[in-house]
Amino acid sequence: MTIQKVGVAGCGIMGSGIAQVAALSGYDVIVREVNKTLLDTGLDKLKISLSKAVDKEKIAQQDMEDALGRIHDTLNLEEFSDCDLVIEAIVEDLDAKKELFASLEDICSGSTIFASNTSSLTISKIAESSDKTGRFVGLHFFNPVIQMPLVEVVKSSETDEDVFDTAYEFAEDLGKKPIACKDETGFVVNRLLVPFLLDAIRSLESGIASITDIDKGMHLGAGHPMGPFTLLDYVGLDTTHHIANIMYEEFGEERFAPPKLLTKLVENEMYGKKSGRGFYEYTGEKPVPVEL
Ligand code: CAA
Repeated sequence: MTIQKVGVAGCGIMGSGIAQVAALSGYDVIVREVNKTLLDTGLDKLKISLSKAVDKEKIAQQDMEDALGRIHDTLNLEEFSDCDLVIEAIVEDLDAKKELFASLEDICSGSTIFASNTSSLTISKIAESSDKTGRFVGLHFFNPVIQMPLVEVVKSSETDEDVFDTAYEFAEDLGKKPIACKDETGFVVNRLLVPFLLDAIRSLESGIASITDIDKGMHLGAGHPMGPFTLLDYVGLDTTHHIANIMYEEFGEERFAPPKLLTKLVENEMYGKKSGRGFYEYTGEKPVPVEL
């Protein structure tokens, strides 16, 4: 199976990142959003990230221009008709994903590979919308996509062997380091990372240390590039809350249950970096821990 044209459904943080790395690796990319505002915001993010990569001398100016030349954008899903691979990176909602793939089934050819960047749903559940479940695979990227080397490649019990192999090789071709994962909620990384992040919140709730000191502890004592609260704000508190709920529902274990403080911050629309406030406030030059 040969991949030449890649469709990316969703141009949020993850979709715009996936579109960037695919275009930088020479693929023709078409990225789709549901409205012009979301599309323009995503494309702006994509351009800023590529400019940063040029500033940091990770890529040449010409690489950026070539990549941008390979990215086409649309509001119309019909334009995915000639894609060899479609990567879904829309909202983490099972019904929305099933609906998207059901539409794509009418649009794309029978050989198009359908991949999901889901972080907490299973590929087999997403594939329930289809009669052709063998074409579904997971391609779970990490944020920020351009910098994080890992891709979890997820094989459901029904994923065709050649679909999995092609997805795995595609991830390698992007310069990523893929790992093979079983189709279980949270795959490898979120199954371990999410309870850790939730435990950090529970530690704060029980007064073990301050936000800054817990972050400093895990950064300097355990070698994490970011402490858990910086990472929570980076990933998004709403996103983490949503993933935790899905995992709690699936496993029924307390370690996956969202702590009260997380729920309270999400209810107050304190989503982290993207909303300007989470465990830190991002209005000044440096993030400042909020009073909780
Ligand atoms: N291209 C584009 N931008 C680049 C870049 C490149 N090659 N290199 C650096 N940058 C950007 C950085 O993203 C950063 O941008 P912002 O200030 O807008 O955030 C800025 O330039 C500064 O970068 P630095 O070089 O100072 O930072 P760094 O490269 O040392 O590390 C980091 C940044 C990679 C994010 C690092 O802190 C890190 O690894 N953090 C942990 C991230 C992590 O754990 N991600 C996984 C989240 S979980 C997930 O994604 C799964 C899920 O399902 C929720």
